[in-house]
Amino acid sequence: MNHSLFTFCRSLLHGICLNEKRHRLTFNAFIISFIFIFTTLCNGSDQKVESLKQLIDMYDPTSCQECHEEIYAQWQNSHHARSITGIFMDRYLKKGPLSVKNPGEATQKNFPCFKCHLPQLEKASDGVAAEIAAVILNNDKTTMQQLNISCMVCHQDKGVVHGLPESNVMYGPKAEKEYPEEEHMRVKKSPFMKQAAMCGQCHGLGPIFEFGHPIQCATLYGSYLHAYIPSGGAQTCQECHMKKADHTCPPNFSDRKDVSERLRQALPMEVNTLAYRFQPTENCFVPMIVLKTKITSTAGHRIPDG
Ligand code: HEC
Ligand code: HEC
Ligand code: HEC
Ligand code: HEC
Ligand code: HEC
Repeated sequence: MNHSLFTFCRSLLHGICLNEKRHRLTFNAFIISFIFIFTTLCNGSDQKVESLKQLIDMYDPTSCQECHEEIYAQWQNSHHARSITGIFMDRYLKKGPLSVKNPGEATQKNFPCFKCHLPQLEKASDGVAAEIAAVILNNDKTTMQQLNISCMVCHQDKGVVHGLPESNVMYGPKAEKEYPEEEHMRVKKSPFMKQAAMCGQCHGLGPIFEFGHPIQCATLYGSYLHAYIPSGGAQTCQECHMKKADHTCPPNFSDRKDVSERLRQALPMEVNTLAYRFQPTENCFVPMIVLKTKITSTAGHRIPDG
């Protein structure tokens, strides 16, 4: 096709030079052919996923379950596996600056929340954003559950820094063991998987100004970088939240009992008391107490976040 376009352009140039009368006509055709070539090239390099089903299939983690059974079960219990179901997106779509009159009007720009809650949407067209808006407004829970931060979001898209992730490569922290190549994507070691910035990609530095309306959700990575590290903190998010590669990534804020127990341990409280009696007049004794409390946080950032 490129060859025939080239011949087409060359004959047009010929037309411009040799035939004065046809000049205007051929010149217009010349411009149109350039626009055509330009748009062809652009479409070729930036292929967007055109349907929601295609996007879900691309990121479907069910095939990983067979071999990574434990990690899969842990991930299923994590908040990463339900990153859309609890964010009240329907309210934002109905009212306020992100609202749309009907789902068909929804675009990527209407969905700033997806930057972190469903980053794979970036690879899809606005038509897919509209499909997702319809799913959310119809409260189609089954489909919503399939929209999540799956294995491939972290191990492919968010798995490297400096340069784009290679297609068909899974990034791992070690990637040294043997694995059945015919059944597995190529695995590459990425030291980034062990760094706090890996989590920081979604766990927020502060308010986000890149969308039409500034938004702020998670800001915990900012606190980690600017408070914990400067005061001598030396652990990564993974060391505190993914011990032995535990993909449940505790805490799980839906499990209130577990969260309060974890917080109790994370915020040790030291209490010192001094009791005495105050005697302002000869026959008056007022019981008094001096209570000194000190709460320290062992977390790597402020808590709570948000
Ligand atoms: C910078 C990335 C980022 C953006 C953008 C973002 N969020 Fe979040 N959101 C998070 C992270 C990370 C958490 C969980 C961790 C936490 O709470 O510290 C979270 C948690 C939440 C929660 C609590 C989770 C639950 O299941 O109840 C809600 C609700 C929420 N976000 C709504 C939204 C909405 C609505 C938007 C868009 C207006 C949005 N978020 C945009 C990163 C983001
Ligand atoms: C939120 C991001 C995230 C998601 C989602 C995620 N992983 Fe991971 N995974 C990591 C990180 C980070 C590590 C490295 C942890 C470390 O070594 O400290 C890791 C480690 C691993 C390892 C190496 C385990 C080991 O013993 O060193 C395997 C295998 C793995 N993940 C598979 C999966 C599978 C399968 C899924 C989906 C069911 C998944 N991951 C989902 C972030 C993620
Ligand atoms: C047929 C079995 C099989 C399937 C299916 C499979 N894996 Fe693996 N995978 C392995 C084995 C074996 C290893 C090497 C040993 C290990 O690290 O657990 C491995 C290694 C990995 C690693 C590198 C971990 C490291 O040490 O750095 C990641 C990441 C990973 N797999 C993710 C996935 C994801 C995501 C899926 C689903 C798309 C998947 N795997 C499907 C068997 C499988
Ligand atoms: C692709 C974006 C993304 C990445 C990368 C990511 N997270 Fe998250 N994380 C989220 C979102 C979004 C939520 C909230 C999901 C919800 O409930 O709506 C969340 C939830 C959590 C929670 C549960 C919060 C709570 O209050 O219960 C923890 C803990 C957590 N993430 C830790 C990590 C760690 C550690 C890493 C790095 C290994 C990481 N995350 C990487 C987006 C991400
Ligand atoms: C020194 C250990 C430590 C480090 C480092 C650390 N955390 Fe935490 N984190 C905690 C503790 C402790 C809590 C309180 C709840 C608990 O015990 O799980 C917590 C809570 C959280 C929560 C829940 C916040 C909420 O509002 O309920 C999220 C999300 C989280 N951490 C993510 C991260 C991420 C992302 C990083 C890296 C940027 C990180 N943490 C680094 C120890 C740590």
